[in-house]
Amino acid sequence: MNEAFKGEVPSSFQGKVGWQSPSNIALVKYWGKKGKQIPQNPSISFTLSECRSETFIGFEKADSFGFRFFFEGKENPAFGAKIEKFLLDYQAFFPFINQLSLNVESRNTFPHSSGIASSASSMSAFVMGLLEIESKLVGPSTGSGTESSQALELVERQIYLQKASYFSRLASGSAARSVFPKMALWGMTETYKGSSDEFAVSLENNIHPIFKTYRDSILIVSSEKKSVSSRAGHGLMEGNPYALARYAQANENIKNLLAALKSGDLGTFINITESEALQLHALMMCSNPSFILMKPNTLNLINEIRVFREETKIPLCFTLDAGPNVHLLYPESETEKVEYYIKNVLADYCDQEHWIADRVGNGPKKLL
Ligand code: PMV
Repeated sequence: MNEAFKGEVPSSFQGKVGWQSPSNIALVKYWGKKGKQIPQNPSISFTLSECRSETFIGFEKADSFGFRFFFEGKENPAFGAKIEKFLLDYQAFFPFINQLSLNVESRNTFPHSSGIASSASSMSAFVMGLLEIESKLVGPSTGSGTESSQALELVERQIYLQKASYFSRLASGSAARSVFPKMALWGMTETYKGSSDEFAVSLENNIHPIFKTYRDSILIVSSEKKSVSSRAGHGLMEGNPYALARYAQANENIKNLLAALKSGDLGTFINITESEALQLHALMMCSNPSFILMKPNTLNLINEIRVFREETKIPLCFTLDAGPNVHLLYPESETEKVEYYIKNVLADYCDQEHWIADRVGNGPKKLL
């Protein structure tokens, strides 16, 4: 891993980098944190494909740190302030930013009003761009093209992604998981060698092929902004009377889900995924103050999905984020039948029949 660039930025240093990075949906949820974005329990997610942020960073040598942030073409100081705070809080990791003026332009491929949290995708896209700027300062690594150098490059890539995950975590916890293709695990668990509280690790090589092409149809029940921010929600776990039981349960679910992901055991996958979604909401219902983040149509959808599964034996299931929208998860081979069912039944419960056809994706991609 290259060290943080601490030297003098050349006066001619300028350019633009661009990265896209996806959102992710957790199966075992991260809810509760300590210290600097350290999770109270490990979490596992699918990396998505269609819901992503595209972020371009123009950079130029300057006498002091300069920063402007544009979201979908308009200057957005509120969101920019979050990134700026992250950079200033952690400038020891990026000392070179004090000699740069940054102009960030970002957009999301999903509608702003879809109720989908964008911090995982936008923060990880930003971090990928920032690391590329740093690489430009450090200079390219010199591979010799031999077999052993290819192996070395693979290892270097893994370390690079780990670094990206580490910084993404500092910017927004769940963003740590967005930098890896297919699936990621974030948080230390004895069940998985190499796992860490400080960065996520890829699960790509430890899952059954069925999960590598899984579908996630996001049923938009409400496009309203979340009534509780995730920062406040994590904070509420501190006084939650069920917190310790929850963390123990999450660890148990991680162990069992990892085994099910490896063997392709869809029954266990469905049980754990749905139970985790309901637990996340139950935790909010018994926090003080309490929150009910489901809407009547969230429950209607859950009931419909369970009846449909029972009747058809199609192994679909739901998960929820910290909001009312329902993520419908199912194997790719069932797409035609499930999409027919969404269009004819489930869409009626959605806000203006709005749903997003997403799927498991390959992680961040360079755009420039
Ligand atoms: O990364 P944050 O701080 O926005 O927290 C995300 C929390 C959940 O989305 C509810 C669960 C998760 O693991 O992604």
